[in-house]
Amino acid sequence: MKAETNINELEAKKQREIMERLKIRLSRKSEELGRPLTYNSVCFGCQMNAKDSEKLEGILETIGYVKTDSEEADFLIMNTCTVRENANLRVYGRLGQLKKYKKKNTDMMIALCGCMMQESLVVEKIKQSYRHVDIIFGTHNVFKLAELIEKKLDSEGMVIDIWDGTTEIVEDLPSDRKYNFKCGVNIMFGCNNFCSYCIVPYVRGRERSRKPEDIISEIKSLVADGVSEVMLLGQNVNSYGRNLEKPITFAELLERVEQIDGLMRIRFMTSHPKDLSDELIAVMAKSSKICKHLHLPMQSGSTKVLSDMNRRYTKEEYLTLVDKIRKAVPDISLTTDIIVGFPTETEADFEETLDVVRRVRFDSAFTFIYSKRTGTPAASMEAAATEKEVKARFDRLLNEVQDIAKETCKRFEGSIMEVLVEGLDEQDESLLTGRLSNNLLVHFPGEKELVGSFQNVKLVESKGFYYMGEIS
Ligand code: 5AD
Ligand code: SF4
Repeated sequence: MKAETNINELEAKKQREIMERLKIRLSRKSEELGRPLTYNSVCFGCQMNAKDSEKLEGILETIGYVKTDSEEADFLIMNTCTVRENANLRVYGRLGQLKKYKKKNTDMMIALCGCMMQESLVVEKIKQSYRHVDIIFGTHNVFKLAELIEKKLDSEGMVIDIWDGTTEIVEDLPSDRKYNFKCGVNIMFGCNNFCSYCIVPYVRGRERSRKPEDIISEIKSLVADGVSEVMLLGQNVNSYGRNLEKPITFAELLERVEQIDGLMRIRFMTSHPKDLSDELIAVMAKSSKICKHLHLPMQSGSTKVLSDMNRRYTKEEYLTLVDKIRKAVPDISLTTDIIVGFPTETEADFEETLDVVRRVRFDSAFTFIYSKRTGTPAASMEAAATEKEVKARFDRLLNEVQDIAKETCKRFEGSIMEVLVEGLDEQDESLLTGRLSNNLLVHFPGEKELVGSFQNVKLVESKGFYYMGEIS
């Protein structure tokens, strides 16, 4: 284990040296042009990708690129997602458009990374049809961006560096935080669950947990830097720590994070129902910092479909778990993910999903139409319903979910709750937007100096998925 730490430390040192070299090289280029070099960063997909993009941006800023919202930049990086087909299509669409910018600015560099790049068919397609791409890398070597840029500057042709998997976790490299007051923190990478529809285990590799000491020291330094809310990130946080040299449970990690002075709020994502322990529920119930929100993907309400999905819980087990959580933390907000149209889903199975939705009454739910991912077991299952039937089911589910969410959101109307002020309201700049512990948003009048602070706000009116309020 010690040897591995040394390798990771050496790797981080090597990357920092490359960054120093590039800084000098790019500042010369910028002087030549008489303007700063710019970068544009596009991120698709989940919170893990968003976190990776912060790391990529940290490296780009360190070597001297300045961020721009325009795609007409000197360096464009696209962090891709492949969890559903439409995410892939958006990337190809965008790549086509980028060609014209590259014609105008021949020094422009285009880099692609993320989950989609872990699929060899995708990389082949880009090599053949999108030859204006300069750098391709995957999910395991985000820390190498500077090295890949240097390699590209010194060579002709596309630089491609995709790893099948890794045991390495390289610590202590720069990261450009999107907010000053809240931050995502990786606690683990990869997934071992192999839900039969899901491509994530193939593109993100096997589960690897960061050491608790590294996580705690990162959070401490974030807090020292003004962060008051952290989101602990992993594909399945409930199995955190199992494979560490000194195993530790997720609940134990949470207890250690809770003790960090100055940290006010703790969130985490995502929990797999099969691994959510009584120990975790007990820790949540007694914690004063863990937010009153749990995202608990159900995927389907049919025990048969859940079994075909390889989720390893039944409808009844899911419902019992929800009861247990609500008993321990009565005011908790529950959200979920649901897939409609899994190949073996019949009308009767779909009715089971609606039944769970009606019984649990989620505060909100992300609903997805099943998307076939090549290489997953579900891709070779025969579809029980037509596309039209699936679309009709999806619409019914969405209506049900939205009607229930509107009603459940109302339950806090009139009460005064603490929010963390996140920024100006996007629609109306005279208003601020704050987030409640239960993850709902509140818009209220206030000065922008309050951004980053905690305020008590009266939830005057529920608007279905958010509130209008006033500082009390
Ligand atoms: N099709 C549709 N939805 C999917 N998800 C994962 N894979 C697929 C797929 N092939 C959904 C699941 C997961 C969320 C992040 O994406 O609901 O919880
Ligand atoms: Fe995909 Fe299942 Fe792993 Fe979530 S737990 S990332 S749905 S395989």
